[in-house]
Amino acid sequence: MVYGPSSEVNFGRLILDYKIALLPGDGIGPEVVGEAVRVLEKISDKFRHSFAFLERLMGGSAIDKYGSSLTDETLADCKSADAVLLGAVGGPKWDDPAAKDRPERGLLALRKGLGVFANLRPVKVHPALIDSSPLKPEKLKDVDIIVVRELTGGLYFGWPKGRDFKDGRERAVDTLEYYDYEVRRVIELAFKLAAVRRKKVTSVDKANVLESSRLWRQIATEIGKENRDVELEHILVDTASMKLITAPASMDVVVTENMFGDILTDEASVLAGSMGMLPSASLGEGGVGLYEPIHGSAPDIAGQGIANPIGTILSAAMMLRHSFYLKAEAASIEKAVEDAIGSGCRTKDLGGRLTTRQMADEIISRL
Ligand code: IPM
Ligand code: MG
Repeated sequence: MVYGPSSEVNFGRLILDYKIALLPGDGIGPEVVGEAVRVLEKISDKFRHSFAFLERLMGGSAIDKYGSSLTDETLADCKSADAVLLGAVGGPKWDDPAAKDRPERGLLALRKGLGVFANLRPVKVHPALIDSSPLKPEKLKDVDIIVVRELTGGLYFGWPKGRDFKDGRERAVDTLEYYDYEVRRVIELAFKLAAVRRKKVTSVDKANVLESSRLWRQIATEIGKENRDVELEHILVDTASMKLITAPASMDVVVTENMFGDILTDEASVLAGSMGMLPSASLGEGGVGLYEPIHGSAPDIAGQGIANPIGTILSAAMMLRHSFYLKAEAASIEKAVEDAIGSGCRTKDLGGRLTTRQMADEIISRL
C-alpha cells in the first residue's frame, strides 16, 4: 500500500470518545480541514466511533479577531483535546516585518506548548504520480522515506534571538541551541521507527561546522551503539540535500534538527509530485498529537476551492493511527486516497481539474 503505515509504532493511548481540536488557520487551511472533517465523519459512521470536533481560530485569523495568533484559551483547549488537526497559517496580510505578532509565532507556540518534539513527515510516491515529479522515473522507484524533524528546539527557539543596534550597526541574532536530552529523545524515536521499517537511520547534521551538530552526532552515535540491529549513517546536510534527489530510495528514516528538517522536507515533497500530498504528525511523550499537512496557506489560491486536500486527509489518517490506535480506520483512508489517485483523480497541483470538494468526494466514495 502506497500511503500505508509509516510504522506500526503506537504513540497513543486507548480512548473511547475522541475529542479533536480543529485549527483550520488561514488561506487554504479552512478548505482542506473542512474536507478532512468530512472524511472523518464518514469513518465515524462506518466504524461507529464518536468524534467530537472543537474548532478554534489560530494564526492570522486569530490575530484579526483576538490580537493574538494563539490565545491561552485556544492552547488550553488543544491540550485538553485528544489530538489537534491543523490546516495552515500565514499570508501577506500579516507579513509586516515590524508586526508584534505573526501567524507563524502561534504555530511555534502551539508546537512548544503541546511539547511535540518529533515531527514525522512520510514521503511516498504513488506510481501513478511518478510523472508529476520532475525527477527521472527510475529515481522514484521504491521511495519510502520518513523524515523525523526535531520540532521544538534549534534555531526556531534558541535564545538569544532578536534585533538590536551594536557599534552603530543594526544586528539580528538567532541561536541554534540544543540540550542533550532534546537530541536524544528525537533520535531515539527515529530508531524506534526504523526498527519496524527497513532498519536504517540517516542522521543529518552539519558537524563539520556547528557545535550543536557535533553534540547531535555524538548522541546519535551513542544511540546507534545501543541499537546495533539498526544501521546508522551520518550525512552532512548539504550532501543530504543532494542525496535526497539523486538516491532517495536509499533512505529510510532520516532524523535531523528543526531547520534542516524544514528545508529538506520541502525538497522531499518534489518526489511525491506535489507538496499538497504530504501529511505530518507531531508527537511528544504520550501527550496530544498535532497533525498538519506540510504545505503552507497558499494565499495565491485561497478561496478558490482548488487546493489539494490529500495532505490534510492523510494527516487525519496519521492521527487515527498514532494518537487513537485505529489502524483499520487509518488504513481505509490511505487505501481510498491511493485508489482515487490510481483512478486518475487529480487536483490542479497534480495537473488535473478536480476541486478540493470533488477530490474529497472521490476519496469518501471509496471509503
Ligand atoms: C512547516 C512550515 C512552518 C515551519 C512555518 C509556517 C513556521 O514551514 O511546517 O514546515 O517552518 O515549521
Ligand atoms: Mg516548512
